[in-house]
Amino acid sequence: MAGTEIVELAKRRGFFFGSNGAYGGTAGFYTFGPQGAALKRNVEDAWRDRFTVAEGNQEIEAPNIMPEAVFEASGHLDGFDDMLVECGECGESHRADHLVEGATSIEDAEALPGSEVELLIRDHGIACPSCGTPLAGQDVEDFNLMFATDIGPGDSQPGYLRPETAQGIFVEFPRLKEYARGRLPFGVTQVGAAYRNEISPRGGLLRLREFTQAELEQFIHPEDDEPPLWKVADVEVLLYPADEQEAEDGDYVETTVGEAVDEGVVGSPWVGYYLGVAQEWYERVGVDMDRFRFRQHLPGERAHYAADCWDAESEVDGDWIEIAGFSYRADYDLSKHGEYGDDAFTVFQRYDEPKTVERATVDPDMATLGPEFGGRAAAVAEALEDLAARDPDAFEADAVSVEVDGETVTVDADVANFSVEEVTENGEHVTPHVVEPSFGVGRTVQTLLAHAYRVDEVDGEERSYLSLEPALAPTDAAVFPLVTNEETLVETARSVANDLREQGLSVAYDDSGSIGRRYRRQDEVGTPFCVTVDRDGLEGDGPDTVTVRERDTAAQVRVPVDGLADALAPLLAGEDSFESFLDAYETVDSGVETQ
Ligand code: GAP
Repeated sequence: MAGTEIVELAKRRGFFFGSNGAYGGTAGFYTFGPQGAALKRNVEDAWRDRFTVAEGNQEIEAPNIMPEAVFEASGHLDGFDDMLVECGECGESHRADHLVEGATSIEDAEALPGSEVELLIRDHGIACPSCGTPLAGQDVEDFNLMFATDIGPGDSQPGYLRPETAQGIFVEFPRLKEYARGRLPFGVTQVGAAYRNEISPRGGLLRLREFTQAELEQFIHPEDDEPPLWKVADVEVLLYPADEQEAEDGDYVETTVGEAVDEGVVGSPWVGYYLGVAQEWYERVGVDMDRFRFRQHLPGERAHYAADCWDAESEVDGDWIEIAGFSYRADYDLSKHGEYGDDAFTVFQRYDEPKTVERATVDPDMATLGPEFGGRAAAVAEALEDLAARDPDAFEADAVSVEVDGETVTVDADVANFSVEEVTENGEHVTPHVVEPSFGVGRTVQTLLAHAYRVDEVDGEERSYLSLEPALAPTDAAVFPLVTNEETLVETARSVANDLREQGLSVAYDDSGSIGRRYRRQDEVGTPFCVTVDRDGLEGDGPDTVTVRERDTAAQVRVPVDGLADALAPLLAGEDSFESFLDAYETVDSGVETQ
């Protein structure tokens, strides 16, 4: 099914559609309809269950707007750019690197300097995709993707909508480490909106200007902490490492997580661990594993903060889509916030046993420094202390030089009173490293729709349906009266629907049109079970039995209405299959559909 068809289907069936249609639409913004909002929420809940709860992590919720200083420190102000080229004729903006990648065999044009991209546009005769005018001669510029805003009126301070939820976690690290009682490793998650002023939004939910991320920041001791790799060591993965992408006859590596880490294909055991966890999670939520791979970033493709990165990619309509990234961010973010912020972005790690170490110290003679340097004497003393910690050998010479206010000053080594003492240390301040699994929720939703879409034939008629995992489907069950002109059936069906709702199921009720039509409507939005109240099941004041029809097979069984919610629960949780219903209950001739 073509990508545009998925987007059309999503709109028709209430999953998602372009926002602000009444005002001409706004590119890059999508509204989730009733089915889509429920599916997205289920994806987020499934993600939380696995990456927050099952991992013993903590979730937070930080603001969407953050002050400029945060993004100065994080590097987004300087380095979060895409390459923009504007058409001189129609004025449309395009990603220059994407145009070059489409017209050449270059795979990571974003790593090239703008001037080279300009030449490639000229040499390959690349034209504006909107109006066909050649783009040769147009400037390629860096375009910062952050949305700027003002915080407060008057002399407001500049702020930005966060381009990744991660920064809301990093800036609160000094407090979050207290909640973790200063013990590494620990993980903090966040599910929320991120904003990027994308040059050319496209593909439904694939490239938006406002989208939802589900991110985990795993804080680790760079040398001491090991992940529980054994839990996923046997998980089979399809990897596409950077060197294979660059080799002429490069190929996929089919391996297990354990082997990939042992053989160094995946450099960090923590990244390997989360690739394994993610592989299992994607399979459980319904991503087709024959259309899924992990691809390592090429060196020029990596974000400014990443030492290494693997993407989870799904195939949709012949294209590979990045649906999550697994970055080794090392100490980049915490060191930067430590440098720019006013708080401690380190963790004190207590040693098992106190250690006796030699420490170089100085005790500058202020009676000499004062007359010589006046108001700068204290700064000179401080510079000498720094130098002793950094480079004790410097004090072996007769004189030592330090930088003070950009000027080099030299003092006699004797004045510094340098010595080496033995001290007992109970621990050390460590800047944790960060491993970051970062999931795009919208891209996951779009992948699930594309991978769940099926067409078959039921009762001689073509039908299309969404084979979504029951746990993820927007609606658990639909309840119908078999015919709509019998008041008892209608009333009874309504009360069955209400009973199921009271027991926590999400239930649709439908009594409009033929029963076959109603089944089709539910199939199209992926409702796993349809419950039909018919005359055969009626006894006394209420129904004794109902029919339960399973979406993918259209098979039906007659089930006692008493305890129906409990009977459906394991099927909805993905813990059991409809086979168990077929074994336990009387099968109904599905000719019922044509009534
Ligand atoms: N904190 C790391 C980070 O933000 P990223 O690769 O830029 O990394 C993570 O984004 C995920 O967010 C991507 O794998 C993708 O699924 C999703 N994503 C990124 N930009 C997006 C956009 N413009 N529209 C929709 N989803 C996007």
